[in-house]
Amino acid sequence: MSLPEGFSLTDMDRLGPDPLVIMHQWLDDAAQYSGRPNPNAAALATCGRDGQPAARMLLLKGLDARGAVVYTNLQSDKGTQIAENPHAALLFHWDLLGRQLRISGAVSQVEDAEADAYWVSRPWGSQVGGVASDQSRPLADRGALADRVAEVAELYPVGSEVPRPAHWTGLRVALERIEFWQEGDDRLHDRIVYEAKPGGWEISRRWP
Ligand SMILES: Cc1cc2nc3c(=O)[nH]c(=O)nc-3n(C[C@H](O)[C@H](O)[C@H](O)COP(=O)(O)O)c2cc1C
Repeated sequence: MSLPEGFSLTDMDRLGPDPLVIMHQWLDDAAQYSGRPNPNAAALATCGRDGQPAARMLLLKGLDARGAVVYTNLQSDKGTQIAENPHAALLFHWDLLGRQLRISGAVSQVEDAEADAYWVSRPWGSQVGGVASDQSRPLADRGALADRVAEVAELYPVGSEVPRPAHWTGLRVALERIEFWQEGDDRLHDRIVYEAKPGGWEISRRWP
């Protein structure tokens, strides 16, 4: 594997006790070296009452000891699945860096104030789109979407405050299990797992 100039691999035998530090390091590395326009993109896997797993890409917008935060429409398919079964997994893959990061745990909604703060940071067009979209519901045609967007844009012209719909908010995936995967030669990869236990992080290495 030829790595980008300036990028240095983590010493997987000395990852340190705090997985948050490593996650932030890996996300910073991805922002700098992954060559990806959305280095914070992750697949979010959910499974509702019907037991059918579903995955789709989302953008990570927050990460701290409370969990990893993504924003979406709670009335979407994923929103329904999470309402039925509030557990999810997030999966990042940075090809050029030979890294995979997995996070899984219970899901909770962020506080309104946190969602509001993120909402106002979004461009007007994204806010209008967020209000206009009945995400995941059947849409007759592209014209119906354009009409809805035009209605919302007329209601909240450029420069005005677009209120955040209550169903558009952040979901936080608790850090219950985290796995750092670093590609190795001959498929002999490094896998280090951090599991949250009452006494702290339990750290284990896994066969590749
Ligand atoms: C790179 C990328 C980033 C995306 N980011 C988001 C996001 O942050 N929030 C979101 O709701 N959908 C995002 N989407 C769209 C979702 O993948 C998905 O189509 C949408 O959320 C509906 O999913 P659902 O029907 O399973 O609920 C993104 C798609 C891609 C390809």
